[in-house]
Amino acid sequence: MKTYKIALIKGDGIGPEIIDEAVKVLDSVASCFDFDFEYEEALMGGCAYDVTGDPLPQETINIALNSDAVLFGAIGGVKWDKLPREKRPESGLLRFRKELGVYANLRPAVVYDELINASSLKPSVVKGVDLMVVRELIGGIYFGEPKGRDENKGWNTMVYTRDEIVRIAHQAFKIAMTRSKKVCSIDKANVLDVSQLWREVVEDVAKEYPEVELSHMYVDNAAMQLIRDPKQFDVMLTGNIFGDILSDEASMLSGSIGLLPSASVGAKIGVYEPIHGSAPDIAGQGIANPIATIASASMMLRYALGENEAADKIDNAIKRALKEGYRTKDLAAYDAKEVCSTSEMGSIIANYAAK
Ligand code: IPM
Ligand code: MG
Repeated sequence: MKTYKIALIKGDGIGPEIIDEAVKVLDSVASCFDFDFEYEEALMGGCAYDVTGDPLPQETINIALNSDAVLFGAIGGVKWDKLPREKRPESGLLRFRKELGVYANLRPAVVYDELINASSLKPSVVKGVDLMVVRELIGGIYFGEPKGRDENKGWNTMVYTRDEIVRIAHQAFKIAMTRSKKVCSIDKANVLDVSQLWREVVEDVAKEYPEVELSHMYVDNAAMQLIRDPKQFDVMLTGNIFGDILSDEASMLSGSIGLLPSASVGAKIGVYEPIHGSAPDIAGQGIANPIATIASASMMLRYALGENEAADKIDNAIKRALKEGYRTKDLAAYDAKEVCSTSEMGSIIANYAAK
């Protein structure tokens, strides 16, 4: 019997509720295989600041580094918005990514047929969408120097080195090899020097993957094409800020931000988290949609632990719950047969996943 050590960072707002449901599903699926989980909780975000004065205590980094993978809920909330920037929950998250070295953020956007009417776009445009944003996560303008501000001026710098581009490009091409073998690299090479280098280096890396078809697109055009014809995309390779923006846009193709998972990988320990935020306005009411977090747990099984069969079981259980008409409140207007609470949805999926 194998025991996987999972660091649980529940975070703020709805974080604890949705992580609890993912744990329920993980334990349920594990009962069908010869592995189980040992969880260790760690604080990050506003809750960590409240207890320790630091949104990312060192102990949290230690617990994460001592695990096989990190399952992460969500952080932040209006309560901490007035704090100086380095004390804010978001700063903790950025430091966490950097400390772990997770440079590749994988954000799939999949449209579930059962929820085709939930999208704000026409069914004919979104039916069958299945794309993956591969976003560079620990470089670019988020971290570049110089940066600063004074009374009348604020400045940040977008920097990428060849090595940083090479490693994220490899991730994108490797993922494309397991999918439809298309990479569209996003940049602003008509304006930015950093993007010119990006494009050249991506071209170089592409030579090692002759089966993969590479195209390039300016980021403004990509934002437009995602809405016009999202089915043209398989893997979208982006820098940090372009991927931040485009992955939010891509997520809405599916109709609910409550559905989509993500994985941050590239280092020894990966971080698996829903793409949505902590939604403090609905926290504690039992109405949050746990599916994105449950799907993140499935990505963790697949990418961190190599338990593909168990991951398939969870993915199929999510599809089955949606197909049978179970909906949390956010999706109640879309072909719901039964509207259920956060914990009921977790139990339904846990039950299907164990079959
Ligand atoms: C995300 C978020 C973060 C980011 C924020 C909270 C720092 O928007 O994970 O996409 O910009 O990376
Ligand atoms: Mg974002």
